[in-house]
Amino acid sequence: MRVYLIGFMASGKSWLGKELAEASGLDFIDIDDLFEERYRITILDFFNKYGEDLFRTFERELLKETMVLDNVIVATGGGVPCYLDNMDMILQAGISIYLRVSVPDLMTRIKGIKKKRPLLKNVETTQLEQYVREMLVNREPYYLKADFVFDGPEYPVEEILRIMK
Ligand code: S3P
Repeated sequence: MRVYLIGFMASGKSWLGKELAEASGLDFIDIDDLFEERYRITILDFFNKYGEDLFRTFERELLKETMVLDNVIVATGGGVPCYLDNMDMILQAGISIYLRVSVPDLMTRIKGIKKKRPLLKNVETTQLEQYVREMLVNREPYYLKADFVFDGPEYPVEEILRIMK
C-alpha cells in the first residue's frame, strides 16, 4: 500500500503523514526531507544555486523512488503533482489524497514558513495572497485528480485511516 498526500505548501501534508503513519504502522516519507538529506543541501539553497528546473528533475526522481516501496505514506512537495506526468504516476502508484485548504487559511499558515520556501520568500507581503491564488488556479486542476479530497486545515484522521484500508 502506498498513500500520497498532495496539496499546496502549508496544507498540512507532513503533519498528517506523520499522524497517519503512527496510527497505521506504515512508514512515512517526506519528499522534501528526502531531497535535503540525499543532496545535503536545503531546498532554498538548491533553488538559489541550481534553479527550479533542476529541482523539479531531482524531485521527480525521488518521487519515482517512492514507487517501488511498499507500506508507505508519502508527503509530496506542493509542486510535485503539477510537473510533467507526475500526477499520473501518483495515480498509478497508489491512493492519492488532496489536502485542500482555503486561501485565507493558507495565508495564516504560510506566514510561518514563507522564509523557507523559495517560491514565496521574495514575494512582497502585500502581493502574497494574490500570488497564492494564482498558483492555486494553476495547480488545483492537478491536485483535483486525486482519488480523495479532504478539506483542512484540520483533517479527520480516523476517516482517512478507514479509506486507506
Ligand atoms: C514547493 C513546495 C515545497 C518544496 C519546494 C517547492 C512548491 O514543499 O518542495 O519549496 O513548488 O509548492 P511543501 O509543499 O512541503 O512546502
